[in-house]
Amino acid sequence: MNDKLIIFDTTLRDGEQSPGASMTRDEKLRIAKALERLKVDVIEAGFPAASLGDFQAVEAIARTIKDSTVCGLARALDKDIDRVGEALKAADRSRIHTFIATSAIHMKMKLQMQPEQVIEYAVRAVKRAREYTNDVEFSPEDAGRSDEDFLCRILEAVIDAGATTLNIPDTVGYSVPEQFGKTIGNLISRISNADKAIFSVHCHNDLGLAVANSLAAVIHGARQIECTINGLGERAGNASLEEVVMAVRTRKDVFPCQTSVDTREIVNCSKLVSSITGFPVQPNKAIVGANAFAHEAGIHQDGVLKSRETYEIMRAQDVGWSANRMVLGKHSGRNAFKARMNELGEEFETEESLNAAFFLFKQLADKKHEIFDEDLQALISEVSAEAEQEGVQLVALRVCSETGEVPEAKVTLSVAGDEVTSIATGGGAVDASLRAIESIVQTNASLQLYSVNNITSGTDAQGEVTVRLEKDGRIVNGQGADTDIVIASAKAYLNAVNKISAVQAREHPQVAGDV
Ligand code: KIV
Ligand code: ZN
Repeated sequence: MNDKLIIFDTTLRDGEQSPGASMTRDEKLRIAKALERLKVDVIEAGFPAASLGDFQAVEAIARTIKDSTVCGLARALDKDIDRVGEALKAADRSRIHTFIATSAIHMKMKLQMQPEQVIEYAVRAVKRAREYTNDVEFSPEDAGRSDEDFLCRILEAVIDAGATTLNIPDTVGYSVPEQFGKTIGNLISRISNADKAIFSVHCHNDLGLAVANSLAAVIHGARQIECTINGLGERAGNASLEEVVMAVRTRKDVFPCQTSVDTREIVNCSKLVSSITGFPVQPNKAIVGANAFAHEAGIHQDGVLKSRETYEIMRAQDVGWSANRMVLGKHSGRNAFKARMNELGEEFETEESLNAAFFLFKQLADKKHEIFDEDLQALISEVSAEAEQEGVQLVALRVCSETGEVPEAKVTLSVAGDEVTSIATGGGAVDASLRAIESIVQTNASLQLYSVNNITSGTDAQGEVTVRLEKDGRIVNGQGADTDIVIASAKAYLNAVNKISAVQAREHPQVAGDV
């Protein structure tokens, strides 16, 4: 009987720390539900002490999720731990994850604490967390650069204090697989009470080694991996969930353990996270990239046609790629629409929200006769964005673009209930439209990224536009989808504008801040 490998997903916490990936409460809830369908064991839902928005998102997820443990992050401070305890009150299964830095550089420069003091903080934090739940995780931040003897001392002390999971983070992505694996093995064999806790790893991808380091740790005894969908996360990201899970499943000969993940949900989850955060998945990304199962070379195609195993080590359908993804069309009724949406995890709370979504679906079906799951997901994003955006909405857009003439756009927006119109010219239809919008909303934000991806194939496909805006050091991504990319661009820009206002309202301090 193989050991269980616990999959701890931190897309909603570390993933959200990617610049521009901040999500609203409803977006986080949608992702949490998708993670539950994926059957991850633990969902790290956020960092409640960071902001009211984070607190409320964790609280909502704790109330909703039934099959996965819901976890909240806390610095080793009473006030942070109490905040997590409060946010997780309604959870069926809750975990508190507390951390403090243990590397010499972090203790001296950041915490300005002596090692003994750091141990005291850690022990006190774990004891406090145990007052709320029996499931307490402790992380020595920057463990990848910490002294092994010191790690042994602090980890032994927190196990005695009641920690049930010891997570070893390679916070700055400095480790390499052989050395990191050995460190995990050493900690497990040297810590006298190691058998009372599960060892976990949390690897960052600064050297592109997050997945390799995590897997090396599993070979040396780690039984929890912290990871994110699409490898989203601080800086270069975290270990990617889909890669870790499929490596363990595909190489059963190497890894003496198994996960409970329903791998057929992987692609859906990846697309959802990409569409909500606006971080596209690169085509050659393992498992979830558009080309992950595509064969270009004739010799490969020939081999695969004769026997799939010649060039494929996994089956595309096992990770959720399906050959026939056309799901609905112009003649599909409300019931078929609702049923497919439910299968995608979207439950409509009211008849009005179902009707609003069905109305948008019919509009789309008039322009595009085959509607795919990806179109439906974009449509859900649009419905939620409209529900949340009380600020500025697109009412009308007309563009005039002709060879030899300067493109011009006329835009009408609804700003807090009032309609305002503006006309602007630009280098192209998109440029003119965004200038017209900016002349009304006047964010003075700088445009850092503009990208268009087709959601499905064909010239009638919806274009999904991502716009990244930066204002006063805050970065937000906005998305918009439409069969007309000028309209998609306007929607994306407005989505970002509305997010800027929302983010301003719920400040997000750095996780690696004081203590
Ligand atoms: O990278 C890190 O050290 C973290 C900890 C909070 C676990 O994200
Ligand atoms: Zn991290």
